[in-house]
Amino acid sequence: MADSKPRILRYGMAAVAEVAARITAGEPVALPTETVYGLAADATDAQAVARIYAAKGRPSFNPLIVHVADLAAAEALAVFDADARMLAAMFWPGPLTLVLPLRDGAAIAGLVTAGLPTIGLRVPRHRAMQAVLATSGRPLAAPSANASNGISPTRAAHVAASLGDRIGLILDDGPTEAGLESTIIAGRTLLRPGPIAIADLPFAVERRAEDGAVIAPGQLKTHYAPAKPLRLNALAPEGDEWLIGFGAIPGDETLSARGDVVEAAARLFDALHRADASDARSIAVAPIPADGLGEAINDRLTRAAHR
Ligand code: TXA
Ligand code: MG
Repeated sequence: MADSKPRILRYGMAAVAEVAARITAGEPVALPTETVYGLAADATDAQAVARIYAAKGRPSFNPLIVHVADLAAAEALAVFDADARMLAAMFWPGPLTLVLPLRDGAAIAGLVTAGLPTIGLRVPRHRAMQAVLATSGRPLAAPSANASNGISPTRAAHVAASLGDRIGLILDDGPTEAGLESTIIAGRTLLRPGPIAIADLPFAVERRAEDGAVIAPGQLKTHYAPAKPLRLNALAPEGDEWLIGFGAIPGDETLSARGDVVEAAARLFDALHRADASDARSIAVAPIPADGLGEAINDRLTRAAHR
């Protein structure tokens, strides 16, 4: 992360080239979409995605929306049904996010989907985001470019005020058009209202309850949970436990031998999946520091342990 004020670059060919170079080098960069400014990182690079969370100071991991250049790029990552294709044809490029089954073998970091078998995808219309997608050639994970619990930014100055010294670069292309995060649809369930009016959709959608519970018969999960029992703050395995290590505790595999929480966040969901797939009947995890990204890791582990 940068330790001084971020540089703000005006949109243009040179600026796009620099932003794309930083992103392919693993650095998150703030840039506009037609909805709000996003903090974008290479969705195939787990550590780059972990740096998004570090910069936002998010205390937990939510699945992130992945931005791609066009429908073909989206179909390389997710499985589309007829409904999804119809929505894509009607609203892409534009402020619509589709939650779809993740395609087998898609090169997307587990931290992006929070370990889920689904992925939120969107083809943005904004020229700056489109130019960076084309130049970097990477799918871009991007939540809104504000500190955790802050208001979504619609101008470069909002990003600078909120993320200040936590990011190195902001691509400025003026105020965003919609000023509201994208509409999110999973199957025929509306997960988040947004710039696309429900009345303009080609079919009726179920709405998500205020408390976040899904009303529809569909069983959408917003978090991956291991099937096996999970014990936290383990210094050594008990019985046949599969131990996920950290720092001085090596375990069956480690989140980070050098005790780096960014590396640990990047490996967390893959490690949980491997633990679930192992022969052991239960899972234990070594203590993770409570500060920085450690807070988000501990939040996720606590939820996975109490079900
Ligand atoms: O307009 C937007 O969508 C902005 C711009 C930057 O594109 N992005 C944005 O991202 O608002 P974010 O991270 O603030 O919102 C992502 C939300 C998650 O909280 C979750 O509700 C939903 O998208 N989401 C993403 N992937 C999902 C998945 N696989 N399953 C369920 N929900 C998912
Ligand atoms: Mg947000």
